[in-house]
Amino acid sequence: MDENLLPERITLRQPDDWHVHLRDGDVLKTVVPYTARTFRRAIVMPNLSPPITSLRSAIEYRDRILTAVPMGIEFTPLMTVYLTDNISSKILEEGKNSGVFAAAKLYPANSTTNSGMGVTNVKAIYPLFETMERIGLPLLIHGEVTDLDVDIFDREAVFIDKILQPLLKKFPSLRVVLEHITTEQAVDFVGTNRCNLAATITPHHLHINRNAMFLGGLRSDFYCLPVAKRERHRLALRRAAVSGKPCFFIGTDSAPHLRNAKETSCGCAGIFNSPNALESYAEVFHQEGALQRLEAFVSEYGPSFYGLPLNTNSITLVRETHFIPQSCQLDSDKQSAESLVPFHAGEPLSWRVLRD
Ligand code: NCD
Ligand code: ZN
Repeated sequence: MDENLLPERITLRQPDDWHVHLRDGDVLKTVVPYTARTFRRAIVMPNLSPPITSLRSAIEYRDRILTAVPMGIEFTPLMTVYLTDNISSKILEEGKNSGVFAAAKLYPANSTTNSGMGVTNVKAIYPLFETMERIGLPLLIHGEVTDLDVDIFDREAVFIDKILQPLLKKFPSLRVVLEHITTEQAVDFVGTNRCNLAATITPHHLHINRNAMFLGGLRSDFYCLPVAKRERHRLALRRAAVSGKPCFFIGTDSAPHLRNAKETSCGCAGIFNSPNALESYAEVFHQEGALQRLEAFVSEYGPSFYGLPLNTNSITLVRETHFIPQSCQLDSDKQSAESLVPFHAGEPLSWRVLRD
């Protein structure tokens, strides 16, 4: 593409993040400002320890998040509830009716970080989906099977066949988001399915394939779940993101873990991308010659799917190569030795968010 034809700046309707991990405690205080400075709203994942399984814990968590939002910034955390084998339909109804639960999250048990209390048998919680379909509470899915005899690179595709297909058939009016898709099977499935099925796509799955985890050694910074797949899948995700299909939209899955929890013999899964998430998506759309489709992907398709109004304020990106810092220190005196490694650490990006 002729770089000279590119604008020097682009102004977009302010985006939202439809999948983020804000954690708790000191990490929360550090990461919330990154998300709140770029995104007007965010769907907040409930996989704390213990997880968010009640209206009260969601309200208290929301308050802790709001306390960490910098002065003068408007940011709305949209709370989710964590589905377990035992959670009741009544809790879901209460949470939805009170305007607190924006969605419910299904983690197959032991599929990812803090999913030990997740669902052991999806069919056994079908009565919950019946309620959700009736009250209009969207179902957000971590779409991986956990059978140890299924290869880790096949877990998403097998989930679609074995769990998702029958679920969608049984609940035709249930709004479903297949989160952080990583495969061409997911792209094909979601792209040709019903309009109340959507998928979020992360910046990292658009940039890296599975080689990144092994480049010159074991690179835990690039380990996340679902794990990055072959190049063919990354290319399918890029095509989906820039396709202009409303069923594919932003969800960063920014998932911070302290450096010492990543760099250990059993490192945590998760990539922390919130400091530069929008710039990271812009890089992809730029490379694909599709910057004119960025706004719909980051700011329009998500709210439309969730039935929420579009944001009215805007954000500007300027074309300016800048290098991403190697680490972000924790915003707390007592743990200042701790750090988070951001996605793209040490690398250049071509677009920068203009801040006052
Ligand atoms: C997430 C986390 O750390 O909470 N990790 C990740 O690799 N994406 C959980 C998740 O979304 O799977
Ligand atoms: Zn996640």
